[in-house]
Amino acid sequence: MEKKLQTVRANNLKQKPEPDKLGFGKYFTDHMFVMDYEVDKGWYNPRITPYQPITLDPASMIFHYGQSVFEGLKAYRTEDDEILLFRPDKNMERMNRSNDRLSIPAIDEEQVLDYLIELIDLERDWVPNSEGTSLYIRPFIIATERNLRVAPAHSYKFLIILSPVGSYYPEGIHPVGIYVEDEFTRAVRGGTGTAKTGGNYSASYNAQEKASGNGQSQVLWLDALEKKYIEEVGSMNVFFKINGEVITPALSGSILEGITRMSIIEMLKDWGHTVVERKISIDEVFAAYDKGELEEVFGTGTAAVISPVGELQWKEKTIIINNRETGDLAKKLYNNITGIQTGKLADPYGWTI
Ligand code: COI
Repeated sequence: MEKKLQTVRANNLKQKPEPDKLGFGKYFTDHMFVMDYEVDKGWYNPRITPYQPITLDPASMIFHYGQSVFEGLKAYRTEDDEILLFRPDKNMERMNRSNDRLSIPAIDEEQVLDYLIELIDLERDWVPNSEGTSLYIRPFIIATERNLRVAPAHSYKFLIILSPVGSYYPEGIHPVGIYVEDEFTRAVRGGTGTAKTGGNYSASYNAQEKASGNGQSQVLWLDALEKKYIEEVGSMNVFFKINGEVITPALSGSILEGITRMSIIEMLKDWGHTVVERKISIDEVFAAYDKGELEEVFGTGTAAVISPVGELQWKEKTIIINNRETGDLAKKLYNNITGIQTGKLADPYGWTI
């Protein structure tokens, strides 16, 4: 079976967008990566093609039962015009964990990383270099078999598309207002919350609309059973600095294992901070606020990197955190992690390639 990468180059290259107009996920590069899967062939026919629409039968299983996974990572341009990827092996590992949960056949992590590097190399001119910009990389797999049977598909497509991006939030790294959601649930233990699969995200939209209706920009998710313990914020992991200690919800089986989350925990420990992964209830956060001990709250993810929280609204009570300003720790983490990602700072952890 053909496993060697074939490349067909685009004849006409697109005009690149202005760096200050990028936003998030609006523009796509000239090429994409595709490979197919059939039960008797495994993953085969890896190819780089011009970026183009794909044709699918209306009965393709992805359209009916949502069998799909995705990943998100970024490439950065250094001052010396090198292109850096941040811990891409972790994305490949997580993709296979998501595949396992969604009954999608595993990928060869090292081989796919090699294909990804080939694609980025071809598209290197698309990696922007102004402050806060990067090339967002979106690998994803969809079930393509034409069948309405409720069971894992026998055929799939794996694609990687690339999008030059600026800030995830139009307002940049500014503290956002958060609505504590106590009706809808993001995920349950034993469900798909730890997998990066589309349904987790689309199922969050109605709560997001509710948050917007309450004048807040994102949702704080509580656990499904008791609506008491904090899980995530928006589509990010969440950290609290209370009385000098940094706390983040432990990976309980319903929380996405963020690569930025993992990196921040490692970085904080390296800096000598106390970081605790444990259950943390919303009452505890509001009680800490009442005692004047709630110092900072921030979300972490690939897209936004660090997103400070300036306001938390829970039922009838709203608290303002750190005077709606970005906290010192969030700022330091942002500067250090993006410094490593962009090659401005040395990478003592060996995270970039
Ligand atoms: C991230 O923070 O990277 C996310 O998970 C959001 C992404 C799905 C756009």
